[in-house]
Amino acid sequence: MDNIRLDGIVKGYPDHPVLRDLSLSIKKGECFTLLGPSGCGKTVLLRLIAGFESPEAGRIYIDDTPVYDAADGVDVPPENRGLGVVFQDYAVWPHMTVFENIAYPLKIAKRPKDEIKSRVMEMVDIVGMHGLDQRLPSELSGGQQQRVALARALVSKPSLMLLDEPLSNLDANLREEMRFEIKELQRQLGVTVLYVTHDQEIGLAISDRVAIMDDAGIIQQIGTPWEIFEKPVNPFVFNFMGIANFIAVRRDDGNFFVGTGTQLIPWTEKPTGDADKWVAAFRPSDVAIAHDGPGLRGVVRRANFLGAMMDYLIEIDGTHLRTSIETHHAIARDLILKAGDPVNVDFLSLHWFEADKLKGVLSE
Ligand SMILES: Nc1ncnc2c1ncn2[C@@H]1O[C@H](COP(=O)(O)OP(=O)(O)O)[C@@H](O)[C@H]1O
Ligand SMILES: [Mg+2]
Repeated sequence: MDNIRLDGIVKGYPDHPVLRDLSLSIKKGECFTLLGPSGCGKTVLLRLIAGFESPEAGRIYIDDTPVYDAADGVDVPPENRGLGVVFQDYAVWPHMTVFENIAYPLKIAKRPKDEIKSRVMEMVDIVGMHGLDQRLPSELSGGQQQRVALARALVSKPSLMLLDEPLSNLDANLREEMRFEIKELQRQLGVTVLYVTHDQEIGLAISDRVAIMDDAGIIQQIGTPWEIFEKPVNPFVFNFMGIANFIAVRRDDGNFFVGTGTQLIPWTEKPTGDADKWVAAFRPSDVAIAHDGPGLRGVVRRANFLGAMMDYLIEIDGTHLRTSIETHHAIARDLILKAGDPVNVDFLSLHWFEADKLKGVLSE
């Protein structure tokens, strides 16, 4: 059963289309992340689902019931859509205690006092805020405030929770911890989650499925985190999921050469189409670096120590590649290199794209 279904959603602002014809369905109990660059239309989409704004065309179903249908004039108000919402700038109310913040949706719904008390105290426990219910937000850390916002969104037992970059104002350590807490909460309560963010790591870490949206508000791929990362359908998706290297490769007499170079390469994976111009894409950690052996001959142009990783910019026949290797690994193999050192680069994993399909993906 689908918890939410969007069908042909169109939304724009004067001279500025945002969503053109968006369809998407999310299953009951699923943790679904919509990942896209800043400004692509993620918040606009959540506002439409929540009912704070209306699309120009299309239909929105929640639990198989239409909550918006432009053609039929259906438009269920936000408070009757049964959703929990946590927006990035939708902070907790500073003049209310933790208890009052969490109780607010139940008060609006005019629930009896004793029911409010027991449900709020249950949520306080679930989000790990036991004993803090009489504090004011100013007496809480950023992470605790965010937990209050989550508890407030969940207290009405919504079937669907919308989260709009709820962790982006937290520092890196807390963000990393909180994302697992959100996932655990979702599992525990069985609530469906639609999480929107531009942060690829969160998308990979917590989701059952991920959708990748481009700058034009078009969904380019939907899949499990593994599929999105390992089987990107096009260069946009590959590029969006982290630091990407794209090397121009030409076919010449059946062989594939980097740039204008002439090194014969024993590619482990070759492209499978007829095009003459290809692009081989890989991530910095997709390489094996060695002093000699198989692979491409290159020269280190810049070496940076990043703690756990060594980051090397390597030039091969005029093409510069970002590569990385674990520092422990580099020490064990005598691969702490400096600018000017010769090096061999072999590929553990490559993704091939036809060069024509790369237009517009790379700014260089
Ligand atoms: N009320 C509005 N009026 C005009 N343009 C808007 C409005 N809300 C959003 N936009 C535009 O819609 C686009 C998508 O915005 P948004 O959904 O907030 O992006 P993000 O993916 O970063 O959440 C942006 O170009 C933004 O400027
Ligand atoms: Mg946004």
